[in-house]
Amino acid sequence: MKRICLILICLAAVFGCNAQTEKNDDVIESIMSRTSVRSYTDQTIQRKDLEKIVRAGMSAPTAVNKQPWAFVVIDDKSVMKRLAEQLKNASMLQNAAAAIVVCGDLSLALTGENQEYWIQDCSAATENILLAAHGMGYGAVWCGIYPNKERMKVLYSELSLPENVIPLNIIPIGVPDRKNTPKDKWKPERLHWNKW
Ligand SMILES: Cc1cc2nc3c(=O)[nH]c(=O)nc-3n(C[C@H](O)[C@H](O)[C@H](O)COP(=O)(O)O)c2cc1C
Repeated sequence: MKRICLILICLAAVFGCNAQTEKNDDVIESIMSRTSVRSYTDQTIQRKDLEKIVRAGMSAPTAVNKQPWAFVVIDDKSVMKRLAEQLKNASMLQNAAAAIVVCGDLSLALTGENQEYWIQDCSAATENILLAAHGMGYGAVWCGIYPNKERMKVLYSELSLPENVIPLNIIPIGVPDRKNTPKDKWKPERLHWNKW
């Protein structure tokens, strides 16, 4: 009986370990295979999928758990066309199925010198959005808005953003129209152990 118990414990340990490694491998594989996607088919994206992607954004960590953000999802083609015409850095909006504007909301942010943590918080949400879109088979790209005043002005005007809200970026999303290969960015010389 003792021997059977021992065998069962060993088996559980071995299979438990494997399951954990596989789980982690899934996440690593998604992170490593993500790349910016700027060209899409004309397929649309259902709102339930867009909401799921924003949920992933809202799952990001934030300083003092402030969650100082707001997300504007655009799936109206006429709005995307107007934005594409005015934002040269985001001209791929022209053929995207949808776009998400990640905004910092200063009325929800920390105050004083900690206020600017909103940028890191919203950047974490942005990366979650990019990874969620990728994991769901869509392609997306982070197009920077803040701190470029000209680009910010376009979004304030086209989306009627209130003054306390700052658009950090706009993320066009669609079904990729080709295979996109991720860049290999591994540079061992950038890694330091324990001290510089
Ligand atoms: C802060 C930030 C701003 C960016 N702005 C733009 C942009 O305006 N237009 C664009 O096409 N890509 C933009 N990108 C995407 C980068 O060009 C892209 O992430 C980079 O070339 C690395 O490629 P990868 O995303 O495929 O790994 C931006 C990325 C970041 C993080």
